[in-house]
Amino acid sequence: MTLNEISKEDIEVLEIFGGNGVCWRKVAKSTNKRIKTTRIDKREGLNGEYIRGDNLKILPSLNFEKYDIIDVDAYGIPFEHLELLFQRKLKNKVIIVTSIRSVLGALPKKLYETNGIDWNMVKKCQSLFSKNYIDLMLGYLFKNNIKEIKIYNHSDKKLYFYFKN
Ligand SMILES: C[S@@+](CC[C@H](N)C(=O)[O-])C[C@H]1O[C@@H](n2cnc3c(N)ncnc32)[C@H](O)[C@@H]1O
Repeated sequence: MTLNEISKEDIEVLEIFGGNGVCWRKVAKSTNKRIKTTRIDKREGLNGEYIRGDNLKILPSLNFEKYDIIDVDAYGIPFEHLELLFQRKLKNKVIIVTSIRSVLGALPKKLYETNGIDWNMVKKCQSLFSKNYIDLMLGYLFKNNIKEIKIYNHSDKKLYFYFKN
C-alpha cells in the first residue's frame, strides 16, 4: 500500500493525530521496512513518548524535513490540517488522510468556496450542497494541485485516501 510509494527501507512517519500509535505498530509488524514514528496528540497519559499539544498550533512551525509520511488520522474532517500542510508547501511527502463527517450538516466554508459554491447559497439549502461531500473534497484537493489521489475506502460519510506531493 502506501509504503510501496517510498523506495527507502527506513521510513519516518509523522502521526499528527497520534493516539496510542496503534495503527502504525501494526503496520510495522507487517513489513520488512523499518518504520520510525513521531506522534503528536493533545491528550495526556498516552503510551510511550510523544509530542503533547494541539497539532494546529504545532504544524505551522514544525520541521517536516525528515518525514516521509504524514498521517492525518482524524475523527472528523481535517480541513484546517490540510490547509496548514498545503501552506507549508511540502515536497516528496506521502500524506495519508482519514476524513469522516459525523452528521449531514454544513462542511467547512472554504470547502464550498474552493468549489465555486457561494456560502450564502449553502446557508439557504445546506443539505443540497453538502450531499456530495466526497466530490467537494476531491475538488478542494485538485485546487491545491493534487492531481492524483488513491482512495482505499469510502462511503458517503468516510473517505480514506492518500496522495503524494
Ligand atoms: C482517531 S485517533 C488516532 C488513532 C491513532 N492513529 C492510532 O492508531 O492509535 C485521533 C486522536 O487525535 C487526537 N486529537 C484530536 N484533535 C487533536 C488536536 N487538535 N491536536 C492533537 N491531537 C488531537 C485525539 O486525542 C485522538 O487520540
